[in-house]
Amino acid sequence: MHLARFKAEPAIFAAPGRVNLIGEHTDYAEGFVMPAAIDFATLAAISPRADGGIAIYSENFGDERFFQAAGLPTAAVGHWSDYPLGVLAILAGKGHKIPGFSLSLWGDVPLGSGLSSSAAVEVATALAVLSLIGVSYSGAILARICQRAENEFVGASSGIMDQFISANGAENHALLLDCRDLSYKLVPLPHDTALVIANTMVKHAVSGSEYTARRAEVEEACAAIAHHRPEVRFLRDATLDDLERWGGEMPPNALKRARHVITENQRTVAAADALLRCDLTETGRLMAAAHWSYSHDFEASCPEADAMVELAQDLPGLIGARLTGGGFGGCTINLVDRRNAPAFAERLAGRYEARVRIHPEIHICRASGGARRVELGALTGKS
Ligand code: GLA
Repeated sequence: MHLARFKAEPAIFAAPGRVNLIGEHTDYAEGFVMPAAIDFATLAAISPRADGGIAIYSENFGDERFFQAAGLPTAAVGHWSDYPLGVLAILAGKGHKIPGFSLSLWGDVPLGSGLSSSAAVEVATALAVLSLIGVSYSGAILARICQRAENEFVGASSGIMDQFISANGAENHALLLDCRDLSYKLVPLPHDTALVIANTMVKHAVSGSEYTARRAEVEEACAAIAHHRPEVRFLRDATLDDLERWGGEMPPNALKRARHVITENQRTVAAADALLRCDLTETGRLMAAAHWSYSHDFEASCPEADAMVELAQDLPGLIGARLTGGGFGGCTINLVDRRNAPAFAERLAGRYEARVRIHPEIHICRASGGARRVELGALTGKS
């Protein structure tokens, strides 16, 4: 499509969406997360232009925008183009001269489902534009640039997880990320397991007020502890003992949010250990505990997601299930024995529809590689 629209052969880049196995709302508290990149991605096709113009076309929205490289917007307007424009704004702010180009975006990451479609757009755009400028950054810096685009331009107060896994994911692996120093460990997923992603069809938005409200409560709890222990800069540094001593000095909801974050950090590190030992029983137990905490202490679930998790429990092949992503809707992640995955998906869909009266989309995914350049020949009909 790029060639036909812009009459120029593009270079093409792909950046995946993600599913988070465990570690929710811990990234901005400098804690631990364990996501995996999935086999849904955004493709960004780019070619240079000599007229100093920047054309950005979204195949998904069937919409093209045109700007002058010398006069790019400096603020978001609540449009799909905010995401690529945010990346350009951050790159320009870092001192890169943005040349004219045509960019086509196409993606199959379901939108607004908690699978990081926006991070995939940002990372694919950043890779494409950087290649045009002739600059290459490490995956960690690439992720920071894209997170800044989301925080500073789009105006969503998200952490680093989504952009980091999109940039750094590895095939057949989850990634245990320490959001303090961005060091990470790749954790192999047993080859006979599948990532079954069940979309509740309840819309999720990170820019939503609920996400921001939870983040504020987490920060409020942290400040109450830091009052006594100034070395606690983020909840990553706090312990359950701190909550016992000073929990009474924070609003009850802040205490519950903090209990989720502190215990979630422990569960996330423990789940990586369990997976490395191939202890799937323990992995599943930790995922169940994480869902309970997310639903009851963090109160970021919704009746539909709780139903999707509950209805999976006694289906053959299930290892563990929980709501994944920013919360308040979106998808559950089910770690499932691969041989059982198709029957599992079918039965879960049937049960959910019978209970909730909504037809869910269920995807059987694999952990895929992170953002990369792709060759035209490897794609059919997508370029
Ligand atoms: C969204 C944000 C992430 C992270 C998760 C919750 O996906 O973009 O940074 O905070 O929610 O774990």
